[in-house]
Amino acid sequence: MWQYYKLFDMEMPFAEAYKIKMVESIYKSSRQEREQWIKSVNYNLFGLKREQVFIDLLTDSGTGAMSDRQWAEMMLGDESYAGASSFYKMKAAIQDVLGFEYFLPTHQGRAAENVLFSVLIKEGDIIPGNSHFDTTKGHIEFRKATAVDCTIDEAFDTTLLHPFKGNVDPEKLETILKTKGDKIPFIIITVTCNSSGGQPVSIENLKMVRHLADKYGKLVVFDSARFAENAYFIKLREKGYEHKTIREIVLEMFACSDVMTMSAKKDAIVNMGGFIAMRSKELHSKASVFNIMFEGYITYGGMSGRDMNALAQGLYEGTEFSYLETRIRQVEYLGKRLIDFGIPLQQPTGGHAVFVDAKRFLEHLPKEEFQAQTLAVELYREAGVRGVEIGAVLADRDPVTRENRFPALELMRLAIPRRTYTNNHMDVVAVALKNIYDRRETIRKGLKITTEAPIMRHFTAAFDLV
Ligand code: F0G
Repeated sequence: MWQYYKLFDMEMPFAEAYKIKMVESIYKSSRQEREQWIKSVNYNLFGLKREQVFIDLLTDSGTGAMSDRQWAEMMLGDESYAGASSFYKMKAAIQDVLGFEYFLPTHQGRAAENVLFSVLIKEGDIIPGNSHFDTTKGHIEFRKATAVDCTIDEAFDTTLLHPFKGNVDPEKLETILKTKGDKIPFIIITVTCNSSGGQPVSIENLKMVRHLADKYGKLVVFDSARFAENAYFIKLREKGYEHKTIREIVLEMFACSDVMTMSAKKDAIVNMGGFIAMRSKELHSKASVFNIMFEGYITYGGMSGRDMNALAQGLYEGTEFSYLETRIRQVEYLGKRLIDFGIPLQQPTGGHAVFVDAKRFLEHLPKEEFQAQTLAVELYREAGVRGVEIGAVLADRDPVTRENRFPALELMRLAIPRRTYTNNHMDVVAVALKNIYDRRETIRKGLKITTEAPIMRHFTAAFDLV
């Protein structure tokens, strides 16, 4: 196993790097209520209302708590249509923290993908990367292009401990560049890699991707939603980085890319927002056309001035070591409790979430009965905890054959919102899952899909008991 570099004086117990100024009530429902509610939404957890959920681990996207300083920045927001000072504040933060000269605000991450891909992707193209996120893949396939997964094989064995399960396999990447190079406009690297379990990519691997991209004359795009969590893992796990600051590591990571898309709802700790940043003035001006068409004028994209201010502040807070340490240790805490109960998960635990291996948890159920969705419904019934399926439902059907795709990993993700829950909440989640694990043999039937959308079906699909 790799070494965790010792960075702290461990004589003191660990505690959060913040205190709480404002709270929000949550409701503990009865099992009877939950049985009725989950049936009424056709066993799709996206259909539940906020009041029907006790601990909401559906996503870490836009669900975090902003700081006092971010709220203060909201008050200073400038809502000028063109040339708002908030735009320039965001521009300065992006230049400072990420090192990009040009940027375009968008309302969230998938909007950044939509604008950028409108410039870069045409029908028949191939986009290699490390387990593309669903909206990324959706925007690629919507343009009749193909996403090719070049993630290392180790990522697909949840029992294997590997420090950088988000890494790209150099052979897989070079093979596709060599054989299909003329169809490849860019390589996309997701940091951290959400689909493989919030797993980081090493600097060494990012440099390898840069090298191959240069060799074959391709652009490198980073899907950067959780770039700061990636940098934290590099600091802890990659030799030579233990004494560098998170900001230094972030700049070194992005030095390997030409363009980045960002869902700021994650590591910039805002409730809404995103952007594209790039080094090329020409790409900026081409993308501006689509930004104006889909998002808004180039100095606000889909964002209000106050949100741009909070985002700029969030980029600084999100790249502070003490914040990242608090956050990722909470995810580790939940992971450790589950491992102690013998529950199978993607190991090591990721940056933003614990990914329970539903294939191993409910191994007696056939994959056609959607093990991860079944487990997520069961966890909701047990304790009002809402996780999300990252498996065959999310994988959609093959765009050509229309057959269900069954990915290598069938996971139930428990994503932890930033600065939102305490470890007591994590204990409730862990004990609820243990209860289910102890009686897993009694879960004899899974779920079937009754209706679904043609693309990104997981948000709205209806299910019924098999
Ligand atoms: N890229 C990654 C790696 C993501 O995780 C997400 C969103 C996006 C792009 C799209 O960003 O939501 O702002 O449009 N992930 C959320 C999640 C939804 O739950 O993991 P968005």
